[in-house]
Amino acid sequence: MARTMALEDRALTILRRLRHAIAGPRRDLRDSYIGRVVRGRSFADVGGLWGTVAEKVSVAHRHGASSVTMIDVSPPESELWPAFHRRMRRLGVAGYRTLSRDVCALRPGDVPEPFDVVHCSGVLYHHPNPMALLAALRSITAGHLILTTAITPETVVNRRGRYRVPPSGVIFVPALSEDEREVLAEHWRRVAPGALGIVAPASYDVADFGPWWWLPTAKAAAALCESAGFCVLDQGLTWRGHALTLMLEVR
Ligand SMILES: C[S@@+](CC[C@H](N)C(=O)[O-])C[C@H]1O[C@@H](n2cnc3c(N)ncnc32)[C@H](O)[C@@H]1O
Repeated sequence: MARTMALEDRALTILRRLRHAIAGPRRDLRDSYIGRVVRGRSFADVGGLWGTVAEKVSVAHRHGASSVTMIDVSPPESELWPAFHRRMRRLGVAGYRTLSRDVCALRPGDVPEPFDVVHCSGVLYHHPNPMALLAALRSITAGHLILTTAITPETVVNRRGRYRVPPSGVIFVPALSEDEREVLAEHWRRVAPGALGIVAPASYDVADFGPWWWLPTAKAAAALCESAGFCVLDQGLTWRGHALTLMLEVR
C-alpha cells in the first residue's frame, strides 16, 4: 500500500514537471491579485516563511509596493529566517522589514500603521482559532487582504465511504469520527500527504499551528471573511479545487 502511494506520488511529480516543461510555470492567482492592488502601497505577508519560495514579499516588491514586511510566528532562531534573507538577497529585494510574531499576539508598536495590502496563505486552516486570525488580519489591514485557505469539497466519495458537508459548513477536524476521517484521509492523502489531523489524527492544542484544525467549504470560507469585516471583490479556486484564494477589501 505504502509502496503504491509512493509510486503514485512519483508519477504525479513527473506529470507536474512535464506539464511545467511543456506549458511553462502556471500563473499564481495570489500574485495576480497582489499585482492588481499593491503598486505604491505598503504590503505585509503573514505566514510566508515556511517553504521559503512561497513568500510574497518579493512579488509585492516586483509589483512596486512602497514597503514590504514579512510577519511570521517562526522564532528568530529558526533557520527559515536566514533562508528568507538569502532569497531576498538573491532576488535583489532590500529594505524589507521582518517581524517574528504570532499575528494574533502583536505588541504595541509592532505594526505602527495598518498595511494597505496584506497577504496570508496557508494559515487559516492550521489556526486553532480561525476567527481570531481573521480579526487580527482585519486589524492590520487598511485596504486589501488576499487570503488563501484549503477548503473541503462538499461531497467526498471513495472506497472508504461517503462524507458530506453542507455549503455553509466548516469541518472541525478533531470532531471527525474515525470512519469520517478515513474517508477524508483517503481523499487528502493524494492531494496533501502531510495533512496532519486528517491523514493521521491530532489532538487539539490551542497553541499548535501545525495540524489542520478547520476546513471550510468555499462558501463558508467567504462567509468567515465577510463576518470578520471584509467584502469579497474576487475569488478563484486553486490547488485543483482544494484551495480558495479571495481578494478582499475592508468594509
Ligand atoms: C503552511 S505555511 C504557509 C506558507 C506559505 N504562505 C504558503 O502558502 O505556502 C504556514 C506559515 O504560517 C506561519 N504561521 C502560522 N501561524 C501563524 C500566526 N499565528 N502568525 C504568524 N505566522 C503564522 C508558519 O510559521 C508558517 O511559516
